[in-house]
Amino acid sequence: MDFPRYRPRRLRSSKTMRNMIRETHLSPLDFILPLFVSYGHDIKNPISSMPGQFQYSVDKLKAEAAEIQSLGIPAVILFGIPETKDETGTSACDPAGPVQEAIKVIKDAAPELLVITDVCMCEYTSHGHCGIIKDGDVDNDSTLALLSAEALSHAEAGADIVAPSDMMDGRVGAIRSTLDENGFGKIPVMSYAVKYSSAFYGPFRDAAESPPQFGDRKSYQMDPANAEEAIREAGLDIDEGADIIMVKPALPYLDIIRKVKDSYGYPMAAYNVSGEYSMIKAAAERGWLDGEAAMMESLTSIKRAGAEMILTYFAKEAAKLLG
Ligand code: PBG
Repeated sequence: MDFPRYRPRRLRSSKTMRNMIRETHLSPLDFILPLFVSYGHDIKNPISSMPGQFQYSVDKLKAEAAEIQSLGIPAVILFGIPETKDETGTSACDPAGPVQEAIKVIKDAAPELLVITDVCMCEYTSHGHCGIIKDGDVDNDSTLALLSAEALSHAEAGADIVAPSDMMDGRVGAIRSTLDENGFGKIPVMSYAVKYSSAFYGPFRDAAESPPQFGDRKSYQMDPANAEEAIREAGLDIDEGADIIMVKPALPYLDIIRKVKDSYGYPMAAYNVSGEYSMIKAAAERGWLDGEAAMMESLTSIKRAGAEMILTYFAKEAAKLLG
């Protein structure tokens, strides 16, 4: 493989040539679209920090779900914006809550679209933390019962997959047991196994109305500096029964996606989070970069790193381009 005998440019000479030797192909089948579902009626509320994204009331989801399905996107993940919040996030288990209702509407409008639900307390607690507060910190073990009840409530409403995003220790095992004991042994758990305490969640917290009212999430989400810990976290969740392992965010953690994939060979998802989306949108709006090209390059890099599933706000836009 020596120059001048070997010249890599030979295989870049035309579009057809480049397409033929391409290693990574994106498809709408790779995408999972996050949706924010609000209480109330007739709401399609633009999220200012995430251009092109909306909070929807349940009645507005029919047309949206049908469009998503027609674009060939296999799944959505739902985040709820409940009418009431309290210390222990009681509204997370309301059978008439926005997520529970949305599942039924989406299943009706787009029967082939898989509905994944985000299982976490932060959208439902008055303090905005991902569990029960004791002595100024989130109490791990008492939170497990709440998360299990929330996951069960989603399964009862018809969710296809539940996705815990809270980062409590032991929650995958607790949720798995609760689902199994209640006849939902066939419902997979997609675990946010490796979730970093990241500045890139900023726009999401506006969208989901879930910022912590005091402190931060560093006592439960991971330190961005750690890679070996990611392997331990993913291993624990696999042992507890996780079916799909997620790394989040995606772009600043492509090395982690690859490491976890190589370590376990498990189905992997990566979450291309709100900040990653909004940065590209903001720069494109200013004419500082080509938004479509940056979007496709980002999504390709996440798949190349080892994720079969990409949770992304770009799902519809990218699926239309891939058409
Ligand atoms: C809930 C949750 C968050 C995100 C997904 N689930 C926010 C957080 O942990 O603060 C972030 C998603 C995004 O930024 O797009 N725990």
